[in-house]
Amino acid sequence: MGINLRGRSFLKLLDFSSEEIRYLLDLSKNFKNMKMNGIEHKYLSGKNMVLLFEKTSTRTRCSFEVAGYDLGMGVTYLDPGSSQMGKKESIEDTARVLGRLYDCIEYRGFSQDLVQTLSDYSGVPVYNGLTDLFHPTQMIADLLTIEENFGRLKGINFTYMGDARNNVANSLMIACAKMGVNFTACAPSHLFPEEWLRDEAKKIAKETGSIIRFTESVEEGTKDADVIYTDIWVSMGEPDSVWEERINLLKPYQVNKKAFENASKDAIFLHCLPSFHDLKTTIGRDIHEKFGLEEMEVTNEIFESSRSKVFDEAENRMHTIKAVIYATMK
Ligand code: CP
Ligand code: NVA
Repeated sequence: MGINLRGRSFLKLLDFSSEEIRYLLDLSKNFKNMKMNGIEHKYLSGKNMVLLFEKTSTRTRCSFEVAGYDLGMGVTYLDPGSSQMGKKESIEDTARVLGRLYDCIEYRGFSQDLVQTLSDYSGVPVYNGLTDLFHPTQMIADLLTIEENFGRLKGINFTYMGDARNNVANSLMIACAKMGVNFTACAPSHLFPEEWLRDEAKKIAKETGSIIRFTESVEEGTKDADVIYTDIWVSMGEPDSVWEERINLLKPYQVNKKAFENASKDAIFLHCLPSFHDLKTTIGRDIHEKFGLEEMEVTNEIFESSRSKVFDEAENRMHTIKAVIYATMK
């Protein structure tokens, strides 16, 4: 039987089979081709989508907006603090109201339970645009970018360096396990993903043949890697007070030339972005003043090198989010 995702929410990759993720990747490629060739695809004309953001965003917000417009939809953006949600109105009531007005809802914020509640009560597909626990739409773009570079996913050696228990790392581990990609978390052990999630990943990997590894050793972690991935060391919602400890813990896990010398010869660099790779941001300059670092999770040399595919990856957010919206709404 063919894959049918109509009416489904997209809250975490654990809810989707390998075949369903494969379907979304193939659909993303079709949409990318259409966009590149100027072929109109207003397949969801007359439908409306609301975007709820409790945290800031460039890529995710713009990808949902452009994808919605390209599909012919109406799109409403609600910024942090401009709705009644949570303050004057419960999440359950907000969900029931939005479900009457809109055909689908995107949410970025803190709690995974909240996005689940929106889905349970709204009666329409809800998309997780990032919570503290997961960032599943990012992963479809990351998988697409890997496949575009290597022509396959199965058997690719993927290494994540840095805060390996943040939303991006958690989701990457599950994405890799589902698609037969070998996943290595290279980080201090208390920044490995939580045990229950590691167990889930290992269970999935048994079926797909993927190898899931955790190591504190940079040498071991980067050996023969095809993809080296990192994310910022302090995520949205964490207090500024954690910077010092995090810098001390993660400095050895910076993605740099040495890491790539140990990787496979065609290895690429990925990052969900935004990234602190120079002093052109206010936070970057602030950290430089306080701790003397000029670059953090990745050196500017690697970020700007031909190995870096981060802007292809960022563009792919839009094509892949479009696939998720279309597949669940068509
Ligand atoms: N990668 C990502 O989610 O970027 P934004 O925070 O800009 O949406
Ligand atoms: N881990 C980062 C991802 C940003 C896209 C954060 O949550 O801030």
